[in-house]
Amino acid sequence: MEQKIEQLKRDAAEAIKKTVADLDALNDIRVKYLGKKGELTSILRGMSKLSKEERPRIGQIVNEARSKIEALIVEKNEELKEEALAQRLKNEKIDVTLPGRQVPLGHLHPLTITLNRIKNIFMDLGFTIAEGPEIERDYFNFEALNLPKDHPARDMQDSFYITEDILMRTQTSPVQARTMQSHEPDSPIRIIAPGRVYRRDDYDATHSPMFTQVEGLVIDKGISLADLKGTLELVLHQIFNKDVGVRFRPSFFPFTEPSAEVDISCVMCHGQGCRVCKGTGWLEILGAGMVHPHVLEMSGYNPEKVSGFAFGMGVERIAMLCYGVDDLRLFYDNDMRFLRQF
Ligand code: PHE
Repeated sequence: MEQKIEQLKRDAAEAIKKTVADLDALNDIRVKYLGKKGELTSILRGMSKLSKEERPRIGQIVNEARSKIEALIVEKNEELKEEALAQRLKNEKIDVTLPGRQVPLGHLHPLTITLNRIKNIFMDLGFTIAEGPEIERDYFNFEALNLPKDHPARDMQDSFYITEDILMRTQTSPVQARTMQSHEPDSPIRIIAPGRVYRRDDYDATHSPMFTQVEGLVIDKGISLADLKGTLELVLHQIFNKDVGVRFRPSFFPFTEPSAEVDISCVMCHGQGCRVCKGTGWLEILGAGMVHPHVLEMSGYNPEKVSGFAFGMGVERIAMLCYGVDDLRLFYDNDMRFLRQF
């Protein structure tokens, strides 16, 4: 009996020693010798056949063998783990001198940058920002702006109609009527309304069926053409620079009277005359005028009590002039070579 146990111990020690880089194999050994159906356990079970005197002695020997084998397994287990770790460290060596992976960082679109600049200039002057829907009712887009159904000026602003009465707005001017109608009659207004507008148009270097406008509307007691001129001059000097020339030319819009087209001196040739300004030295930059009394009236304002001015500017046009971009389509084509420059 003692010999058998001694033999088992030696066999186990040998097996443990031989195990290399394999924690599973080590576990198999544990099961084989120490497990419930293991060899040492079966010896313990067979002890009932031994004499009373022999039992404690053999029991002690078995327990000693058990602890010995257990200790060997623990030791080997540690050894194998360490080896495995060392191996991993060797295999997964990290070269800390490799250059890092760049996380691409986006930035604002040039039109957004331009629009933000324009918004900030007006907000500094106390304007708030109003919004209106891009899918607009004929009533707000035309009718309430003094452009009844048969008005010839509608021809210049053909659009995409959803129904007879609903269209993609052709201008941001409908926000004028919407703002007035949402205000207490005759109460003061000082808003800009930036947004996209849609027209049936070509798609070339200077035209697009979708573009961006910033509408402006100021209404109060005693607002005059001088306020309009002063405000726009100040704003244009901030958008471009202080020496830019500003010129008001008589024009026509059904919803303003008098109306003006506003030009700045050519930013390319400073008024000398070049290809960009077609030799005139001036660039048309926005439309403006005093709000037509009829337009005030239609939206519940009394032209006897208050007056106002309105304007509308094209953001793409301004961005093109600020950045020296010569093709409008570049803003929409999403060519990274272009966009990365801003
Ligand atoms: N809505 C006009 C246009 O798109 C511009 C404008 C706005 C003119 C406000 C006068 C007053 O052409």
